[in-house]
Amino acid sequence: MKSLLSAGIVVLSILLSPVATAGERFVTFENLPMGTREEPFLLRTYFPDPGLSREVIANHDLGFRARKYSPGKGDVKGFVDPIPGIPAAIGVSFGPELSICWDTIECRLLYAWQGGFLDMTNYWGKPESGRRKGFGYIPELVGELIYLSRGSHPLGIFDSYTETLAPVYRGYRLVDKIPEFSYSLGDSIVHVRIEPGEKPMSIVKHYRIERAEGFDYFETGYSFKKTEDKDHSFSVTIQGKPLAIGGQDEEPTFSTDKPNREWGESLYTSMGCIACHSLDGTRGHGPSFAGLFGAERPITGMDKKVIANEKYIIESITNPMAKVVETFPPGYMPPYPLEDKQLRSIILFLKTLGNE
Ligand code: HEC
Repeated sequence: MKSLLSAGIVVLSILLSPVATAGERFVTFENLPMGTREEPFLLRTYFPDPGLSREVIANHDLGFRARKYSPGKGDVKGFVDPIPGIPAAIGVSFGPELSICWDTIECRLLYAWQGGFLDMTNYWGKPESGRRKGFGYIPELVGELIYLSRGSHPLGIFDSYTETLAPVYRGYRLVDKIPEFSYSLGDSIVHVRIEPGEKPMSIVKHYRIERAEGFDYFETGYSFKKTEDKDHSFSVTIQGKPLAIGGQDEEPTFSTDKPNREWGESLYTSMGCIACHSLDGTRGHGPSFAGLFGAERPITGMDKKVIANEKYIIESITNPMAKVVETFPPGYMPPYPLEDKQLRSIILFLKTLGNE
């Protein structure tokens, strides 16, 4: 039985392309895994539900409360609630610009976000202890939601679609390292490959449809462009927009008139710096921000250390290749063309982070 709230514990983490960390064999050592545009990273895991409507997840059922069970005593007092998450989706991270959650039950893109990918700590536990939080199977989204699917399935197939016909997932294959998902609907077979578009926050879907007479595409609530259908193949570009996690448009609690620390802290999350830079001194994909401001930094290819002053921080954000911190790979951090007010806000935020 397909279930949205399933009490079953399925630990499936399929690693298709290695994360760009120093030669680690197991993806579960890195709780903030991330891919790149060239080497997207795929993960089959539980996913959080950021506010999907019932219409979008119509083929999921909601599960039941179950009796508590102990391996020694059998049924014991009390109940266990179903786990609130999406159990059978596949996540793809293309780096900070785009991550997607594609559901194998609805066979559609459920949502997309930018910034980072997933924080797996709830599910995989802390690397040191290796223990998961009690029943916390749902990872957290890192970054900012830019697309949340609405309405009925965007691809309508006229000759096979009826109310009772649910899509059946067939699998995926990699085309130029990008997954192409396949599913059938009645006699028709649909293949769809999803990747970042050229404009910021845009998502491109490439469709190939077999054995269908008539079909049409409509995206509820988003502007989109569809190319002409040629031999049952076409592409759709959806323009995403920032949404707060939960599906509501964001209401900032800080001013954006002039630089301020709160704005900097919010950018740290929404721009995805959090995916690579910790605040507690631990090494991630990038160096920690703890105690960074004013510290001496060792730079690859330079004999003398440089001081992390305002100029250095701004350069590091807008042109990361200019000075690469020793022991970190060049070109891993994307350049962020932020406004001056945003850069100053990040600096104000960094100044409050001591060396823990
Ligand atoms: C994909 C991972 C990634 C993301 C996302 C990222 N960075 Fe970085 N960052 C790095 C890496 C790797 C380095 C070290 C190599 C270098 O200097 O380019 C770095 C270096 C830096 C440095 C210099 C740090 C030092 O120790 O001297 C600053 C400042 C910085 N990043 C700020 C940011 C900010 C602000 C954001 C978000 C707007 C951000 N980074 C997003 C990976 C990332």
